Amino acid sequence: MQLVTEDNITDLAVQRWATAEDPRLAELMTALVRHLHDFAREVRLTEAEWMAAIQWLNRTGQISNEKREEFILTSDVLGLSMLVVQMNHALDPRATPATVLGPFHIEGSPQLGYGEDMSQGLPGTPLYLHGVVTDLDGTPVPGAVLDIWQADNEGLYESQHADVDEARLRAKYTSREDGTYCLRTVAPLGYTIPMDGPVGELISRTEISHFRPAHVHFLLNVPGYEPLITHLFQEGADYLDSDVVFGVKAELVVRYDQREPGPTPDGGSSDVPWFEARYDFVLQPQG
Ligand code: BEZ
Ligand code: FE
Repeated sequence: MQLVTEDNITDLAVQRWATAEDPRLAELMTALVRHLHDFAREVRLTEAEWMAAIQWLNRTGQISNEKREEFILTSDVLGLSMLVVQMNHALDPRATPATVLGPFHIEGSPQLGYGEDMSQGLPGTPLYLHGVVTDLDGTPVPGAVLDIWQADNEGLYESQHADVDEARLRAKYTSREDGTYCLRTVAPLGYTIPMDGPVGELISRTEISHFRPAHVHFLLNVPGYEPLITHLFQEGADYLDSDVVFGVKAELVVRYDQREPGPTPDGGSSDVPWFEARYDFVLQPQG
């Protein structure tokens, strides 16, 4: 007969979970049990607190659907998502660093040409973001598809608008023979993460800022190179020092230069003031 005590329950549970057939699953589960038990012991978890946590997890599952990933948001605000990204993308220091994907990427964005507008006349200051896609030695990478998405001037992504069913502020651009790319959009604004669910409920009980600094998301999945998921942030933007999902890295902060009406980098022209930002993406070869 196995007599359970507060002192031996951790070893007993670890022994059980160590029987998982897949050795990696056994490693993950036994470590999880040890850390969970240590946590409960350290804080002397009460039954009421345990129940509150279970109910919070229930609500987190219940509010999640194909457009809303409250568990991923939980991982993001705990800093776990960025930790996992950093551990799994220890790239060459010359390569563009990776960040979190976030919950708002949508597959199948329209393909646009060099300098074409992905903002469909939505309000905001025009922003031309351009540069070169290269490998670690600065050799241009032609044909690289840049899958790009951002929030609108209300701080909302396409999937947060129930009434929008065409592509909104997202597009794919392809680098040219010399590796150059150019996108035209409107300057993004900072925005709040969704605060109407269990994550917001917890955050509102702290002094944590629930904002993200202005940014544009990029996904580059180029054959022969490590896939790159990242963002570019606007230099001087609010919340750069307090990004609620810990996504900001110095290398990803770019300057927006204010330009007068006139010629734009795609060879066209703007009749209103616009911003110009330059960024060269550096890809890490695979393997
Ligand atoms: C985003 O930048 O789209 C995002 C990332 C993590 C959590 C919420 C939003
Ligand atoms: Fe975002």
